[in-house]
Amino acid sequence: MAVSFARDILPLFRAIDIAHMKGPGVLLDSYAYMSDPANAQPVLDSLTGAPPHMPPGGPYWSQSQIELFEKWMSDGYQP
Ligand code: HEM
Repeated sequence: MAVSFARDILPLFRAIDIAHMKGPGVLLDSYAYMSDPANAQPVLDSLTGAPPHMPPGGPYWSQSQIELFEKWMSDGYQP
């Protein structure tokens, strides 16, 4: 089954992540924003840097959460 933004990806973001990132203009809860590869890739990069820099101070995403996000992208950004 293809990875879905609403079912699989949105629940990975905490309310505090969504709220804090609205200020800098990173709309984590918006499918329209996140389904643009020019936005999804920097979000992925923020989660997977060495060390990751989002969310600041952690807890950082697990490998399985990262892989789910990557599969959502490679599945073609399904809603
Ligand atoms: C393109 C991707 C992102 C950019 C450019 C970005 C940028 C920023 C900036 C500039 C801040 C405020 C300054 C700071 O505390 O460092 C911030 C804070 C924050 N970001 Fe992000 N962020 C991104 C993605 C994310 C993601 C994916 C998450 C969560 C999964 C996240 C969670 C947070 C949280 C929780 C804060 C507030 C931290 C605090 O005030 O204690 N951000 N982000």
